[in-house]
Amino acid sequence: MTSILLRAVLVQIVACLLATLASWLLTALWPYWLVTQAAFAVGLSWALRLPRWWLVIHAGFLPLAVQALQWQLDPVWYLLAFLLAWLLFGAVYKNRVPLYLSNQRALQRLDGLIAPGARVVDLGAGVGTALSYLGRRQDIAVTGVEHAWVPWLLARLRLLLQGRKVGLLRSDLMQVDLGQFDVVYAFLSPAIMPGLWQKVRKEMQPGSLLVSNSFEVPGVTPTQVITLDDWRHSSLFVWRIE
Ligand SMILES: C[S@@+](CC[C@H](N)C(=O)[O-])C[C@H]1O[C@@H](n2cnc3c(N)ncnc32)[C@H](O)[C@@H]1O
Repeated sequence: MTSILLRAVLVQIVACLLATLASWLLTALWPYWLVTQAAFAVGLSWALRLPRWWLVIHAGFLPLAVQALQWQLDPVWYLLAFLLAWLLFGAVYKNRVPLYLSNQRALQRLDGLIAPGARVVDLGAGVGTALSYLGRRQDIAVTGVEHAWVPWLLARLRLLLQGRKVGLLRSDLMQVDLGQFDVVYAFLSPAIMPGLWQKVRKEMQPGSLLVSNSFEVPGVTPTQVITLDDWRHSSLFVWRIE
């Protein structure tokens, strides 16, 4: 991730230099310096093969920053916005796992994979959607792990109000010993899957299941793929640990 951030900063700086050079060579461009900078930034981002969403960020970054400066907002607002984002999404810049929720179809199919007596963990529990669903079952033990404060708090409240007997840790999922669970459910992001797989191989017991909603482990064939009949045509990828 650091290298992506470094590349992003580099793209912005080089785009500023190129836009200045272009406007110097072609003076008619000066009034359009910001647009030229944005165009160079998008081009460089594309050439460096940064993930596609960076193209949008680079297109808007400097024009929006200049606009925001013109509003002359108190810097406290920027600090508050940063704090709010951190409380909501945690260290998303580090692991690139945003907050979105499992749908009913995914949860029904996940439920069907869990044998009575199983110990289940939802890695990155969000606002407790999967925990609440699975927590209806009396024959399994359900735990969630969430590191962002606001989703964790909302999940806590939700489970409390519903009277669900579900454990919920506020922790980094990478710190949790997966050896304690028979089924590990993860709805995370492509970025984290290779690291998670290494942890799974090290810690999970033979016979236990890793179920990943939507995201595959690169180069590792799942034992089973369950296609979900939802609008995203997503799948549950299941690995039985050997
Ligand atoms: C895509 S949401 C999934 C929410 C929930 N599992 C569901 O299926 O509805 C991923 C969640 O993982 C959390 N998360 C991301 N990285 C994490 C980490 N390293 N440790 C714990 N939680 C994490 C995010 O804050 C987010 O709430």
